[in-house]
Amino acid sequence: MTAPYPHLLSPLTVGSTTLPHRVIMGSMHTGLEEKEGGEHELAAFYVERVRGGAGLIVTGGVSPNAEGATRKNGAHLSSEDQLPRHRVVTDAVHDAGGFIALQLMHSGRYGMHEHAVAPSPIRAPINKVTPRELSDSDVERTIDDFAHARSWPNRPATSAWKSWAPRGT
Ligand SMILES: Cc1cc2nc3c(=O)[nH]c(=O)nc-3n(C[C@H](O)[C@H](O)[C@H](O)COP(=O)(O)O)c2cc1C
Repeated sequence: MTAPYPHLLSPLTVGSTTLPHRVIMGSMHTGLEEKEGGEHELAAFYVERVRGGAGLIVTGGVSPNAEGATRKNGAHLSSEDQLPRHRVVTDAVHDAGGFIALQLMHSGRYGMHEHAVAPSPIRAPINKVTPRELSDSDVERTIDDFAHARSWPNRPATSAWKSWAPRGT
C-alpha cells in the first residue's frame, strides 16, 4: 500500500533553506508578542516546539505598520527600535537548530483599534470598529511598509518571511 503522504517526512528545499521535513507549526499569535518582556517567554515557547520536532515555525502575525496591528499597540515592525525583540525570538529558534518564518500580517478591518483601515469602510462582523477607507496612495504606502519591514539592515535573521493581507486589507 502506498503511504498516504509519501513526502511529509522528507526534506524540503525552499530557496537557500532546507527543512528537515514538512510538518510545520502554523501561525498562532499568543499575546506574548505585546507583553513587556514577552519576547523571552515567546522564544522559550518556540524552542520547546523545535525540541518537539517542528520542521518550520511560523510566528504569530506581526504587522508591517501600526494601522495593520491586531489591536492598539499590537506587535508591528515599522521602526528599527522594534527589531531587537523579534531578534530574541528568531535567534533562540536558530540556536536550538530550528527554522522560523516571521509572519508579516496586516489585520485590515479586523484590527481592533481606532486606526484600522480597509479597502472599503465596512466593519468586520466581529469588530466594533469601522475601518477608514484606504486611498490609492495608502495602498501604495502599505505595500511599501511590507517591503520595508523585511529589509532593515539588521533585521531579525529568519529562515523565511511570510506575508499576508487577506483580512479585508
Ligand atoms: C490563538 C490563535 C492565534 C492565531 N494567530 C494567527 C496569526 O497570528 N496569523 C495567522 O495567519 N493565523 C493565526 N491563527 C490561525 C491558525 O494559524 C490556523 O490557521 C487556524 O487555527 C486553523 O488551523 P487548525 O484547524 O489546525 O486550528 C491563529 C489561531 C489561533 C487559535
